Formats: sequence, C-alpha cells, structure tokens
Amino acid sequence: MPRVVLAGSGIAGLFAALTCANAGWDVCVITKQSLEESSTNYAQGGIAGILDKTNLSGKETHIRDTLEAGDGYCDEDIVRDVVDEAGDRIRDLINAGVNFQTDLKGNFDYIKEGGHSQNIILHAKDSTGKEIETALLSKATKHPNIELLSNHLALDLILRDRNSVEKEILGLWVFNIDKGIVETFASDAVILATGGGGQLFSRTTNPSVATADGMAMAFRAGAKLSDMEFVQFHPTSAALDSNQTFLISEAVRGFGGVLMTKSNYKSWEKAHGKNTSNTMVKPEDFSFTKKYSKLGSLATRDIVARAIDHELNISGDDYVLLITEHLDKQELQTRFPTINNFLLKHGIKLGIDPIPVVPAAHYFVGGISVNKIGQVVNSATENIISGLYAIGEVACTGMHGANRLASNSLLEAVVYSSRASLNLTNNIIVPFDDSNVLPDWRADGLESLVDHYSLVDDLKSLKMTMSRDVGVVRSNRRLNRALRRVNLIENEVELAWESSIPTRPLIELRNMVQISKIIIESALKRKENLGLHYNEDNLS
Ligand code: FAD
Ligand code: SIN
Repeated sequence: MPRVVLAGSGIAGLFAALTCANAGWDVCVITKQSLEESSTNYAQGGIAGILDKTNLSGKETHIRDTLEAGDGYCDEDIVRDVVDEAGDRIRDLINAGVNFQTDLKGNFDYIKEGGHSQNIILHAKDSTGKEIETALLSKATKHPNIELLSNHLALDLILRDRNSVEKEILGLWVFNIDKGIVETFASDAVILATGGGGQLFSRTTNPSVATADGMAMAFRAGAKLSDMEFVQFHPTSAALDSNQTFLISEAVRGFGGVLMTKSNYKSWEKAHGKNTSNTMVKPEDFSFTKKYSKLGSLATRDIVARAIDHELNISGDDYVLLITEHLDKQELQTRFPTINNFLLKHGIKLGIDPIPVVPAAHYFVGGISVNKIGQVVNSATENIISGLYAIGEVACTGMHGANRLASNSLLEAVVYSSRASLNLTNNIIVPFDDSNVLPDWRADGLESLVDHYSLVDDLKSLKMTMSRDVGVVRSNRRLNRALRRVNLIENEVELAWESSIPTRPLIELRNMVQISKIIIESALKRKENLGLHYNEDNLS
C-alpha cells in the first residue's frame, strides 16, 4: 500500500487524511500535541461559501469581496476556483458529520462578517471549528487505514535530489516528545498541514501549537515561502486576561456589535440616555471606525486593526470597546455561548457590558508557496518538490492576496486538502521500497541542553520584538531594529541547536526565529503599503 505521512491534525490534515485513506492509502497523521489541539478547534465565526452552484450572483459577490479584502493582490483565478468548489467541499464536511446551524424551518443560518457584503457564512454558533474538528477526528480515529500519533513533532523533511534540478521526498524526521528521541518516518509522500505561526507574537488568538514549524521546515528543505509580510491581526481579542488571549468573533459585529473608543462610548451614553434601543441614536454613528471606512465596524480586518492601533496611540488608552448593549441580550447570549461563558468568568455580560478589545496576531496569509493542487514549489528552480504538499494555513495559494477575508480560511483549507489528496492518490506512484535505507537524524555527539532558562528569555524577547516592531503599523527603523535583535537571538539558538539533544521548546524556538527573520526581511522589501502590510515610511 502506498503510504503518506501527514503533519498536523486540524481541518487540512484530517480532511486530507480521510481522502487519502478512502483512496486506499496507508495514512499516518503525526501531530505535536493532543489530536484536537489546532487553530481549527478554536475557529468561531464559520466557513464562507455558496452551497448552490447555480447561484452565480452570490458566487460573484463572494469573489468580489475576497478580491477587495485582498487589496487587489489575490490571484483571481485561484479565488474563482475556490469559490466555485466551495459548495462541494462544504457538502463533504456535512457528509462527514459536521452540523451547521439551521433555523426553525431547517434552512442553514447564513451570517456575515467583516468585508462581506452578503450573508454566506455557515456556522455552528461560536464554535464552528470545534464542530468541524470533532466530526473529522471521529471519522479519522475509526478509519482502518489511518494511524494518528499525538505528541509527535515533525522536525525536518528528508529529501534527495532526483536529478540535477528536481528534489523528491523520502520522509520525515519526527521528534517523539514522550520518548525524547528523533524517529525516521519513511513515506511516498508528505503533506504539511501544520497551520500558522501566531505564537511569534506576544498577543495572539492562536493556540500554543502555532509556531510556524511547517514553514521553517519547508524553508530549510529549499521550498519557496511567499507573502510572509502579510500577518493578519484580528481587531477584537478580549483585553481581559494577560495570560490568555481570547477571540471575540467578528460575527459579533456581524450581529450588530459596534466598536467605540472610551470617548465615543461616553458620547453615545450621553446621547441615548438610558434607552440603548433608541433607534434615533445609532451606535455606529458614534464609532471611530466610520472615519476609516464607510463599512465602519464591519470593514475588513486590516483597516479595523489599524484604526484601533491609531486611536489607541492618540488616546493613550489600552483598549477600545465592543458595544452590544443595543442588541437583544437573549439572542446574543444564545448565539454566542462560548464567548458569553468566557466573558462571564471576567464579570462581563454580553448584551449588557462593553467588552474591552485589542488587536492580536491571528492568521498567516503567507506561507509555503504551492501550485493549484497544493504541490510545494522549490525556491531555486520553481519546479515542484516531488511528493511534497502543503495545505491549509501553512500554505500560500494566492487566494487571500494581501489580507484574508473572514471565514475564507477554513474554506481554502478544505478545498486544497481535497485537491492535494486527490492529485496524490490518483497518480501512479512507485510503492515505497522498504529496503531503501533512509538517513538517521544527526544524533551523534549531542548532549542534553544546559541552561534551559535562556531559551525562555529568548522566546520572550522574540515575541516582544515581533509585537512591538513587526506589528500592525511598521516603520523602517522598527523593522531594522527587529532584524538586529532577531539575528542576535538566532545566533544563540543556533549555538544551542548545534550541540544539544532536541527538545520541543528548542525546536519550536528555532523555527520561530527563522520565520520571524523571513517576515521582517519580506516586510523590509515591500516598498508599498498593501493590505496587512503598513509601513509608515512607505509613500503610499
Ligand atoms: P491548524 O488547525 O492550526 O492545525 C495545525 C495542526 O498542526 C495542529 O494539529 C498542530 O498541533 C499541528 N502541528 C503544528 N506544528 C507541528 C509539527 N511540527 N509537527 C506535528 N504537528 C504539528 N478561519 C475561518 O475560516 N473561520 C473562522 O471562523 C475562524 N476563526 C478562527 C478563530 C481562532 C481563535 C483562530 C486561531 C483562527 C480562526 N480561523 C478561522 C483561522 C482558521 O481556524 C485556521 O486558519 C485553520 O483552522 C487552519 O487549519 P489548518 O488545518 O491549516 O491548521
Ligand atoms: C472570527 O470569528 O472572527 C474569526 C473568523 C476568521 O478568522 O475568519
């Protein structure tokens, strides 16, 4: 049986695993923590897509909204293809057991988020990702062709030169976290589905597993990384708990929530007296966001995050407020139970109290450059690396341009998972030859890591640097300072790396440093302000 090793157990990895396994392949999914721990598991808002293939105007609107959010930088062909395939792939999810919210008549309850001009987002209240992750995981764990290994961290790709210009994949080196050793996994193909890298920043909506490992690993193997300067900051993470960043879904603004500065809020309170449902006093008219876009609180994320950053700089406040008091409390609390429970723990009632929010690193638009079927591009030759695929947030397909439209990520992930796995399993492949001996990990002479505390300091310093100097608003001075600091950290980490037996913190820190450096270099290279990239020294 041909064998594929998949790194990552979010939507991209699990959907691809099921597709390959159903095609008769032997599938091994390795994932670095528990099986469900992934960004997918925390996705709130939903998945965008038109289910009805004949709804041409709806699809055109989805395409237009995606292109506009991407600030003219999306690959339009890719956008058109993905939007066209959305209905089929969302149906696949439904067939896999995902329950999207319906109304009393049994029709899907489509909602809206920032940058969308129509309601096309399917959801499972505010835990859409958990619903998807649970359904796919339940199928995968029961599938006889799929082996799922938790606490296994993909460390590096094993490649060989096929000829003078082409490389091919032989397998993966994997760090077995429980045993503390590196194991060699042979396979006919490797699919990277390791997600993004929000953990490069101090404040992020991403779980701890999001350390950009897949991108770093692919980069070391000679893969091309693209558009790395476009890091998306979500405008509304709750500014309540310094130890845990929690997302307040854009769907709350889609439901009517409004962003205000503290000063906007005071003016609004004064205007409405005690009557928050006074329709003559529209909360949106008091929102600072109107200065930045006619879409106000529901403008795209790049615009809203920058507007918040700007307002906080002017006022010196630590956060802005998300207002929901003018909305139906009962409906709100029923519609957003996860958010409501989180806020209650902090003494805030949805529909009653203003919610303090700030932007947080949320999504990597850039990533491993792939073609239309998820095959990884070699940076030196622009050929594909044979047998190597990247899907989901780890990949850069060109779909999102310079800024991703809300709820297009789960969609892109499922479309590319399907394409990559179908391409892989439909092509005749020489079965893996067990006698073909793979090189072992370079374990000789390595010693246990001493002075672990220095890694902790380096990690803190890296996150702080990335947050302060490579955040929502950049400048040449800040980017150059960030580069100098990251270079220093890199030197330290490489010293430890050369001589030490790997540990999860060391492997992750090394990956994070390498990708941080690429983000900074990409940001320095981009001389125009576009989508998520804003450098105040650029002219436009
Ligand atoms: P992930 O779901 O992140 O999975 C990556 C997997 O790889 C994990 O299992 C991880 O443990 C594993 N992994 C990482 N490194 C390694 C390694 N070295 N070795 C082995 N395994 C590894 N998008 C939308 O479209 N709609 C939304 O409503 C939405 N809401 C979001 C809310 C939050 C809080 C967050 C964080 C993101 C949200 N997004 C949303 C973005 C979306 O969830 C992600 O982009 C998407 O889930 C990525 O899926 P993925 O399978 O590529 O990666
Ligand atoms: C959210 O629910 O606000 C996140 C949606 C997304 O990232 O697409």
